[in-house]
Amino acid sequence: MRLLILNGPNLNMLGKREPEIYGSESLDDLMESLQTAFPDVQFEHFQSNDEGVLVDKIQSVVYKPVDGIILNLAAFTHYSYALYDTLNMVYCPKIEVHISHIYRREEFRHKSVTAKACNGIIAGLGTYGYHLGVHWMINHYSK
Ligand code: DQA
Repeated sequence: MRLLILNGPNLNMLGKREPEIYGSESLDDLMESLQTAFPDVQFEHFQSNDEGVLVDKIQSVVYKPVDGIILNLAAFTHYSYALYDTLNMVYCPKIEVHISHIYRREEFRHKSVTAKACNGIIAGLGTYGYHLGVHWMINHYSK
């Protein structure tokens, strides 16, 4: 199974960025822990701080399909109709992950414009949410 792990702005700073909210694990640590937990899954990881670059990456899946996308579009989640439209072009299963509990934070974080393009969302469970997303994908394809 090939899964794309897609991360948006500021997630490259994981571990250094507000650790009381996002934890002390770096993005590299997270990718390593996913590969260790799921040795049979082929992960591709992509992170960008740029909305257009994320649009291009999601579009690339149309030509080079993957079995699923686990995405954390970070702040773009809350207002990017461009990313919402792009996600709707891609028909593989998509799970939206948020490390923090977005519904317990500032009001602007309570809305996700991209969630409607996804099969489900996981929020507030720390970086373990990415692991849960992979579990869901495996279960989805085992049916
Ligand atoms: C986030 C939550 C967003 O509101 C925020 O802008 C992020 C990270 C999360 O993983 O909790 O950058 O997506």
